[in-house]
Amino acid sequence: MKKTKRTSARKNYKNFWKLSQKDFNTEYFDINKDGELVVYEGNYKYNVHDLARKFGSSVEIYLPSILEERLNHLFRVANLNCKRLGYKGKFIYHYPMKVNQNKEFVLPMISEGSHLECASANDLWIVKKLWEGENFSAKIRVLCNGPKTEQYISLIKKLREAGLSIIPIIEDTEELKLFKGFTGDLGIRINLQSKVKSHWDKKIDRFGLLQEEILELGKIRNLKILHYHIGSQIEVENDIIIALREAFKAYQKIREVNPTLDTINIGGGFAVPYEKKKMYSVESVIYRIFKNLKDLSDKAGIPHPNVIVEWGRYIAAPAQISVYRVVCAKEIPKAVAKQWYVIDGSFMNDLLDTWAIHQKWHVTPVNNMDAKHRHRVWLAGLSCDSDDKYAASDGYLLLPRLEDLEEGTSQYIAIFDTGAYQDAFSSHHCLLSSPAKVVLQNGIVTVARRRETPDDVAKLFGW
Ligand SMILES: Cc1ncc(COP(=O)(O)O)c(C=O)c1O
Repeated sequence: MKKTKRTSARKNYKNFWKLSQKDFNTEYFDINKDGELVVYEGNYKYNVHDLARKFGSSVEIYLPSILEERLNHLFRVANLNCKRLGYKGKFIYHYPMKVNQNKEFVLPMISEGSHLECASANDLWIVKKLWEGENFSAKIRVLCNGPKTEQYISLIKKLREAGLSIIPIIEDTEELKLFKGFTGDLGIRINLQSKVKSHWDKKIDRFGLLQEEILELGKIRNLKILHYHIGSQIEVENDIIIALREAFKAYQKIREVNPTLDTINIGGGFAVPYEKKKMYSVESVIYRIFKNLKDLSDKAGIPHPNVIVEWGRYIAAPAQISVYRVVCAKEIPKAVAKQWYVIDGSFMNDLLDTWAIHQKWHVTPVNNMDAKHRHRVWLAGLSCDSDDKYAASDGYLLLPRLEDLEEGTSQYIAIFDTGAYQDAFSSHHCLLSSPAKVVLQNGIVTVARRRETPDDVAKLFGW
């Protein structure tokens, strides 16, 4: 059948905005015949422009189905590779709660078979609430990372006594002493010497113990897990494998003194293609993890270790977008961009990584996606801070011109992949309200968090 002009134009726009592409985690997003952004949940379809107008902006739009599909895909790829390679160890996923502790994120992860990883006593407090609600299956396991305060240790011990399968991950020698007499399984964090290309690869890392330090400890009662976390948003696939191979060598040595050790936990770090440039795939990384571990353990004559991953950003980031309205535009006299677009939210408050680590995002219009004319802009937040701004790696964004808008309409924009970390970092500079959050599930739209009123915000500051 011959394509009409209209469908091929839509396809071009779709490609231009990098939608419906699995490599970029935008396979759920499309553009409709009116040039508006739409998102699919199976056979349900939601119009993002309508949602922004109905619920107002700034608004976060979250789809649990994306979270669930990503986790299930990861399980499928892992199981397939285990079978294909004859790998005997288990593959286990622990959701690192720090990535997004919102109830609507944590609950679907658990229901899809994820275990949990906590980083603080307060993370664990949420687990305690879930445990007391008697909703947990006895199979769930909780890993406790992070420095162990008295409060944290006491909660770990309490939950262990209550029957929860909870495993503290020891971060240093002093911490190990605090768990003397703990009868449950233990993990230990190793500080690897491999370096990775990532913002978080620090020259000197304060987390975990060196291999020599672990070996000096000799036998550790009930040691089950050797854990490392080499960095977040690891840019190069091979770096993941180099770290794994180093960890295996340490695992092999530590296991000689601790035969109970049977699991390698590779932590987080799987990257998200925020800028929609092709990156490594989960299929390739998983295959290489199992292939390397199989070859190394067969050569060493030891059983294939169980593998835990805590890839948080990879699962959570693409499940949410943040939508803003362009409030006004302002000319920029001499720059690579023509205008500032001031949005009804704040990068410093709502998407703090923009400011903190110069995070880049995928930004598209929500309406007028098929605009013939686009021009170069910079985005600015509503706060008074000159750092409250955003430009892409190219130094500018291409967005529709406001002068081409129909009378009485506004331009909305979507920022993709905002489901990881940003909510917990969010703040209230200039007392701006945080975005509302709507959840799209089973064809129904619900408000998980309404936009803060002036009174809500004032209360946070004691008014
Ligand atoms: C111990 C540990 N595990 C997992 C993660 C999740 O990392 P990512 O979101 O990069 O996968 C982190 C992040 O800081 C971490 O510290």
